[in-house]
Amino acid sequence: NIKDFVKIVEVGPRDGLQNEKTIVPLETKISLIERLSTTGLRVIEAGSFVAPKWVPQMADSSSILSHLSKSPPPAPSNLKVTYPFLVPNLKGLESALTPSHPASEIAIFASASEGFSLKNLNCTIAESFTRFEPVVSRALAAGLKVRGYVSMVVSCPYSGDTPPEKVVEVTKRLLEMGCYEVSLGDTTGVGNPYTVDVLMKALVEAGVPVERLACHFHDTYGQAIVNCMVGLANGVRVFDSSVAGLGGCPYAKGATGNVATEDLVYFLHSVGMNTGVDLEKVSEVGAWISEAIGRKNNSKVGPALLAK
Ligand code: HMG
Ligand code: MG
Repeated sequence: NIKDFVKIVEVGPRDGLQNEKTIVPLETKISLIERLSTTGLRVIEAGSFVAPKWVPQMADSSSILSHLSKSPPPAPSNLKVTYPFLVPNLKGLESALTPSHPASEIAIFASASEGFSLKNLNCTIAESFTRFEPVVSRALAAGLKVRGYVSMVVSCPYSGDTPPEKVVEVTKRLLEMGCYEVSLGDTTGVGNPYTVDVLMKALVEAGVPVERLACHFHDTYGQAIVNCMVGLANGVRVFDSSVAGLGGCPYAKGATGNVATEDLVYFLHSVGMNTGVDLEKVSEVGAWISEAIGRKNNSKVGPALLAK
């Protein structure tokens, strides 16, 4: 049943690693992406073409893109895995459009709060859209797919609570620009089932097609799974997650990782949804990367399953 299918966007290699203080070796990043590619995941965010002064950990994204095109990771039969990269401006797009091996998909990232826009992009929300316009039109003209993010959809450590109308406005603008999907970021994980439900209903009532929305919930306060349930109940069928719950945003105070992919897959399967993801395989990847970078595994399900 197509209605029961949920697409998972694995953001571990990007959102998961971008906040690591110690530079993770390129081989480890590539091995992570290759291992994830064998699990049935269809979308694996692979890096970001941002200023290396701002996020040094992502400085080797060009090498990742080039490796992925030269040696496409083995995926389960008939599965086409997409590897998007974040792009904040035209300079980033240039890297994504490397002539010999362009990326097939990029993601632009906006904010619903002025404070975070300034911290994360060094410009206002309005200025960020002026920058995104040519990025999106050129990317679309070059045949790339463009995904949009909205950060701080519930509340922002710099600007306070985010009015749902602001999220509606930014989301609509991203869709109108040509993003095929907009991912709603609770960047600091402060959302709860009530605030997320109010937000989802505001978006749907404003005419935003729920098929074009994704939920991107960080688990800082342990609410990510229950918030995903609220997204699911409101009709969302795309969720972002990070293997082993890796991650955090360098420009969002106190933000920790995304909901763990293992926990999300377990939850979705337990309520009868289909993801195409092999839970045991992805749990093994979570155990491996946690060990490889010396981090506690933030998934609950992965270690429990592997201990059986
Ligand atoms: P700026 O300092 O205003 O930019 O930053 P600039 O144009 O003045 O350039 C400064 C320097 O950066 C120059 O180098 C540029 O060439 C270079 P210099 O001349 O000083 O040597 N530069 C670049 N280099 C490589 N690639 C580029 C690029 N652009 C400029 N694309 C800028 C503005 C947007 C560049 C900066 O603010 C930036 O890179 N921000 C990105 C921050 C980031 O990556 N944040 C994390 C991702 S968002 C996130 O995690 C949230 C999300 O997960 C959803 C959620 O959870 O809510 C998606
Ligand atoms: Mg994030």
